[in-house]
Amino acid sequence: MNFRLISKKNPDVINILSFVIFFILSCDSTESIQPLEQNKVDPFIQNKKIAKTINLGNALDAPNEGEWGVTLEAEYFQIIKSAGFSGIRLPIRWSNHTQANAPFTIDENFFKRVDWAVQNALDNNLAIVINIHHFEEIFSDPLAFKQKLLSLWEQIARHFKDYPDDIIFEMLNEPHQKLTSEIWNEFIAEGISLIRKIDDKRTLMIGPANWNSINSLSTLEIPNVENLIITVHYYSPFEFTHQGASWVENSDRWMGTTWDATNTQKELIDKDIAMVKEWGIRNNRPIFIGEFGAYSKADFNSRFRWTEYMVQVMQKNEISWSYWEFCSGFGAWDQQTKKWNELLYALIQPN
Ligand code: GLC
Repeated sequence: MNFRLISKKNPDVINILSFVIFFILSCDSTESIQPLEQNKVDPFIQNKKIAKTINLGNALDAPNEGEWGVTLEAEYFQIIKSAGFSGIRLPIRWSNHTQANAPFTIDENFFKRVDWAVQNALDNNLAIVINIHHFEEIFSDPLAFKQKLLSLWEQIARHFKDYPDDIIFEMLNEPHQKLTSEIWNEFIAEGISLIRKIDDKRTLMIGPANWNSINSLSTLEIPNVENLIITVHYYSPFEFTHQGASWVENSDRWMGTTWDATNTQKELIDKDIAMVKEWGIRNNRPIFIGEFGAYSKADFNSRFRWTEYMVQVMQKNEISWSYWEFCSGFGAWDQQTKKWNELLYALIQPN
């Protein structure tokens, strides 16, 4: 600090300096800070940790790891970290790796593999969202598989109980079909109270029924608990993002659909994301767009433009996001060349 500036001739400088000194002192004073109640974790701060993330998809969410062309490697976590992402979302198909009957004990080796992935994320200072993904049976017969869902969460919650708070639990990917909003709301309430009894500090994440669609947010009954993040997925326009996708019937006829960043196209995204943001503010809950992406059958320049625009709009609205996905059909990183493609520049942008 240059004290020569302080002179009687310059009262403004003195005023400014007094203010600065007062400000520094008041920052130091414990009285001026509102401490969070003991043990409380702020979900808005937690959501910032997963501000810019990428899905390690098609690996542990395949029926068996490797069957969909992705086997996790330790270097993936370093590559993701050094590219500028703050975390990852790890989709996991637990339901395929348990005993057939209650209590549906999770296969030890599978659990070890998940642990290895979680540890790699933590070692690289990446926050991590772990979920239950592709639990297909529960969508056609929710009541028959409810106990299995709860039992999975009981085991997962116990296992990670003493792990750092950089691990976030997302209860179920894309509930749909017979798992209607009504049933899903009941499962959420039961599941969350079960997890909270085991671990009352973990940040939890839930999304609406109907594939985590933004249009179903209004049907989601938010449980009366703290430390909760709300997730939705965004793939609009679907004819563009899912053209040629083998798992979407008749999507070949959408081939050639481009996204040219026209005003009309941008306005659709603006409107949707503004609605999501407004919902979050109204309900005082942080929002995470846990999946968005355009499949590789679409024209690359269109994918770039769409991804770049999505990231801009989400960041402007302070919504955290996770790109779908790292190195498979929507991939931003190429397993053969071991390099990022240009999508990385669409994803990692200044705030
Ligand atoms: C969902 C599915 C995943 C699919 C993605 C894009 O997350 O679980 O398998 O690739 O959406 O359609």
